Amino acid sequence: MRHLIDPLDFTVEEIDSFLDLADKIVENPKKYSHVCDGKKLATLFYEPSTRTRLSFEAAMLNLGGSVLGFSSGQNSSAAKGESVADTIRTVSAFADIAAMRHPKEGAPLVASMFSRIPVINAGDGGHQHPTQTLTDLMTIRSLKGRLGDMTVGLCGDLKFGRTTHSLIKSLARYKGIRFVLVAPEELQVPDYISEGVLKANGIPFKMVTRLEDVIGELDVLYMTRVQRERFFNEEDYIRLKDSYILNAAKMELAREDMIVLHPLPRVNEIAGEVDSDPRAQYFNQVQYGVYIRMALIIKLLELEVD
Ligand code: CP
Repeated sequence: MRHLIDPLDFTVEEIDSFLDLADKIVENPKKYSHVCDGKKLATLFYEPSTRTRLSFEAAMLNLGGSVLGFSSGQNSSAAKGESVADTIRTVSAFADIAAMRHPKEGAPLVASMFSRIPVINAGDGGHQHPTQTLTDLMTIRSLKGRLGDMTVGLCGDLKFGRTTHSLIKSLARYKGIRFVLVAPEELQVPDYISEGVLKANGIPFKMVTRLEDVIGELDVLYMTRVQRERFFNEEDYIRLKDSYILNAAKMELAREDMIVLHPLPRVNEIAGEVDSDPRAQYFNQVQYGVYIRMALIIKLLELEVD
């Protein structure tokens, strides 16, 4: 049995096979509409979510399966003090696969150690968000035709933004990748990313504070929101929240073929006027998230399609 807890739990070849399957689902979704007949997905969400939880549920429903779960720790026996280990032992009796989001880093890993069903990390604190990364990889590969040989800019809260940590770890495995990390010094990537992933693997990267200075170099611009819920005090959040606002004037400095991604939700960091720019792909990105989660469910349940 395999779990998806960290973006590197699967090899590049395995990830490519997930992406290939997701592409096949896009081409012929009807073919996959009964693959999960009789199967159940549990969504165990201890933190708020719109995209991840609903796209997992849509993915399972599209495959013919059913869904059950909770959308807040307060609606589960966690509110009475139940441990993650006991919850997943229980859910293993009800479902065939589980997706878990939790505010504590490592909670889905703990769950996987006590589970009798595959566990998917749907975001753990400020740590990792591997299925957002699968979504991002599918979006980039579909729109740019490749995952290597490009310059990827990540902008905003790179300290607490778990999607950026997972994306950097994953893209660092492809040849010819270069990163431009745009953030205030206080919100730059943690050392385990800059030292442990980038420097340790000889991946070219630079850290800058001004988006305008580098936007013209980028093939992909990955915007992120400042993660209010991870700040220890509100004053710091208020000081840093509007550090970057992508607007039409900044987009004029970008290449014609650059794409703008964002894991969403957005707050102020992309002005509404950018939404109509054909390079703005963040709402298409959401749609790719359903297809890749369909592929992931099929793979983790080891279901035969052809
Ligand atoms: N991208 C993402 O994780 O969005 P949600 O928090 O709405 O699930």
